[in-house]
Amino acid sequence: MPDIQMRLAKQEDKETVTNVFREAGLDTDAALANGTTYWVMERDGQPVGAIGLEHGDGVSLLRGAAVMPSARGAGLGRRLVMSAVEYAQGRGDRAIYMFSKGNDWGTFGFTQVPLAVVMGEIPDAPQIQAYRARGDRPGGSTWMRDLSK
Ligand SMILES: CC(C)(COP(=O)(O)OP(=O)(O)OC[C@H]1O[C@@H](n2cnc3c(N)ncnc32)[C@H](O)[C@@H]1OP(=O)(O)O)[C@@H](O)C(=O)NCCC(=O)NCCS
Repeated sequence: MPDIQMRLAKQEDKETVTNVFREAGLDTDAALANGTTYWVMERDGQPVGAIGLEHGDGVSLLRGAAVMPSARGAGLGRRLVMSAVEYAQGRGDRAIYMFSKGNDWGTFGFTQVPLAVVMGEIPDAPQIQAYRARGDRPGGSTWMRDLSK
């Protein structure tokens, strides 16, 4: 059985996190910015996954749930998302938001919401600021996991 470990990312893990995001085809803007919490997942000591949360006022933005292509389909993505959800619940968040380019996030307990909801709920998230600085807006679909129930 492979040894799977998840740990909180420190500033020195920034390159590891951005590499995993890049391998998974995700944006790397503002990874590990101030006011965020990131995790690295390792399999037998090698990084295979990463995820982050950008924290707002009573809500968080899930940032880059990413598993290396060679490690997918084995439940690691679900473990990453569950750790982030538990952390957000622990800090008292009422909801987690996220942007997705393709996947249906219903399987992770999310429902689709309009982009304007996220922009209103967590306007200062580093990922949203990065989009704004580029004169861009998040593509794909927008999702929410309600933590209040
Ligand atoms: C999304 C991602 C993290 C899932 O990682 P994973 O380790 O393969 O996921 P798991 O093995 O834990 O599977 C979790 C669930 O997602 C489903 N799933 C996995 N890959 C899927 C895909 N490509 N399309 C649809 N559903 C998928 C599985 O069926 C599973 O559901 P189940 O447990 O009910 O069977 C991974 O595919 C990835 O890194 N994708 C690219 C980055 C990305 O798009 N991130 C999200 C936007 S930030």
